[in-house]
Amino acid sequence: MTGDERENDLIRSVALQNASSILIARQRAEQELLEAKQALEKKTEELAQSLSMMRATLESTTDAILVTDEQGVITDFNENFVEMWRIPREIMDSRQHRLVRDAISQRFENPKQYDSRIDEIYSAAAPQASDVLELADGRVIERFSKVQSVEGRIVGRVWTFRDITERRLTEKALIEADRRKDEFLSVLAHELRNPLAAVLMAVRLLQRKGPPDPALQNLRAIIVRQTLLLTKLVDDLLDVGRITTGKMRLEKKHVALNTILKEAAEVCTLLIERRNHTLSVQFADPSLSLYVDAARIVQVVSNLLNNAAKYMNDGGQIELAASEEDGNAVIRVRDKGFGIPREMLDRIFQRFVQISTPGRGADGLGIGLSVVKTLVERHGGTVEAASEGLGKGSEFVVRLPLFVETNE
Ligand SMILES: Nc1ncnc2c1ncn2[C@@H]1O[C@H](COP(=O)(O)OP(=O)(O)O)[C@@H](O)[C@H]1O
Ligand SMILES: [Mg+2]
Repeated sequence: MTGDERENDLIRSVALQNASSILIARQRAEQELLEAKQALEKKTEELAQSLSMMRATLESTTDAILVTDEQGVITDFNENFVEMWRIPREIMDSRQHRLVRDAISQRFENPKQYDSRIDEIYSAAAPQASDVLELADGRVIERFSKVQSVEGRIVGRVWTFRDITERRLTEKALIEADRRKDEFLSVLAHELRNPLAAVLMAVRLLQRKGPPDPALQNLRAIIVRQTLLLTKLVDDLLDVGRITTGKMRLEKKHVALNTILKEAAEVCTLLIERRNHTLSVQFADPSLSLYVDAARIVQVVSNLLNNAAKYMNDGGQIELAASEEDGNAVIRVRDKGFGIPREMLDRIFQRFVQISTPGRGADGLGIGLSVVKTLVERHGGTVEAASEGLGKGSEFVVRLPLFVETNE
């Protein structure tokens, strides 16, 4: 082989190599293109799928939904929206939120007010806003609006509307039923009060004038005791009625703090003795006085003492103490009884709330503490319950403003 021939061979082989590498490069490029195309097709399919899911979601909720962009162009809505607001098709087709707003505002007694609220929401760019809308036709709609952003940039707003008319009606009916129940209880208490007073008077008369047979004496004592208990229940009910109707009147006058303690202890003597409890009283400085409805504050303290005696096994200890703390009169009632679970400490002050534990006699209505709380608060004070838990006793603390004499 001559030198020329060798050179030609070389050139040919290089050319062949080039050609094949170009071919390979081209094939590779085509492959990549194909993959990119497939990936794009997959993405498009996924997008179509999630779009259709979104459509389905929009249409499968009972809420009415409208989606707008920041320029106020409608980008989406569901059929519920059109139905809820009865918006003509051509207005929806215009895709202009302004026109839709005008149509919606006609459903209100005060269209301007509705409109300016929307302006407010747009201009405040609040991330979310919610309102309750009352329509002229009686419907009540809850509106919620939430900004949508992509990578920190606001792209639009979703407006959802929920018809809560039914809920509103139910709430109103519940409130009305509750009011009627209060009224009934109050009428019932009034009606029971008089016959009870008559029974009590009659049996007291019998105690004095009836046959002195010991068996009869005993029976009469039972009637007196039970009638007094019934009277107490009825009085509590009457108080609840006065409280719920705002008819509780206070007759305030000056009274020594210690007088309150004495009278409250006296009211409860019978129960405390019957249960074999001991009551120790720690009086306050005799100069301390209150400006209160004394009978009502005695009622507060005796209610607490009564509870202490009731919610403790026989033969227990009750402590009643009064003192001055930070310019307030503080009255504490402590027992070593059943105690109160932590989660009930606040709740027991609500009407009709009782702790149900086996062995705990339920001979009340769950009213006493709610009356205590109202009475104390009406006097500008507070009442709190504390307990280490079930079986660990309880403490009730009443704080009332002290009466301070000013020498002017
Ligand atoms: N000193 C106390 N120790 C334990 N539990 C108490 C005490 N005082 C009140 N309670 C609980 O709080 C509930 C509500 O008290 P109250 O409103 O006076 O109603 P009532 O005594 O009629 O049940 C009681 O049923 C009882 O479960
Ligand atoms: Mg009670």
